[in-house]
Amino acid sequence: MSETQIRTFPNLEELSRAAADRFATLAIECAGKGKIFSAALSGGKTPQTFLRLLARPEFSRRIPWENTHLFQVDERCVPPDHLQSNYRMIRESLLAAVPAAAANFHRLEAEQADRDAACEEYAAELGSTMVPAEAEAPRFDLIFLGMGPDGHTASLFPGSKAVAERSRWVCPNYVEKLQMHRLTLTYPVLNAASAVVFVVSGADKAEALRQVIAEPCNLDLYPAQGVQPGKGKVAWFVDAAAARLLDTAQRSAS
Ligand code: 6PG
Repeated sequence: MSETQIRTFPNLEELSRAAADRFATLAIECAGKGKIFSAALSGGKTPQTFLRLLARPEFSRRIPWENTHLFQVDERCVPPDHLQSNYRMIRESLLAAVPAAAANFHRLEAEQADRDAACEEYAAELGSTMVPAEAEAPRFDLIFLGMGPDGHTASLFPGSKAVAERSRWVCPNYVEKLQMHRLTLTYPVLNAASAVVFVVSGADKAEALRQVIAEPCNLDLYPAQGVQPGKGKVAWFVDAAAARLLDTAQRSAS
């Protein structure tokens, strides 16, 4: 069972600052040990504040970008300049402002017609960058995850096929309720991570957060509960609005 910590913050800005600090600290630590820093970024809206902070000189000047390899947790199957593209959000929030970060960014090419081939190509890129031990999944130093009001994370949605994937590292996933195809990292990769940070903001997430933290594990209902890195730590960085249904024993003020 991975070690889980919940940190609550007054608002998204302070939550995002803590996430940016965690990113910078780990990136610097890895560089100090002469190893690359591998991180995976989620899409959606919440990461924008965090990524914009990383682009600011107070952070971007501290981070050894030449040593930092950024990957995507998931992507919508749309062109990279599409409004719904997670890559477009990451590019606009961070990569366009920090060319050094873009230099080692590994884009998930979800616009490809052959979605299985796109997943295999990305899995190969994960393997060649992180060189996992035989029969092991690539071990990210840090994975940032979001969570939807339905308890999904990455593109692992309740009742969707990819929730059951236990061998492929990256796979396509059709999301019925959104009528959308996506590509996503799977539990084998998420659960190989050294550190996972969930970044959750907003009152609309409060009930799902309470269920994910307090209720018995049920991946068909709450896929976020399936993120339990065997040798890694899970931290929940949540704002007060998302944490409002947690009892005091479950949360520690930041
Ligand atoms: C995506 C994300 C997804 C996201 C949650 C939360 O492609 O949408 O990877 O898992 O993290 O849906 O999204 P918000 O941050 O927009 O609430």
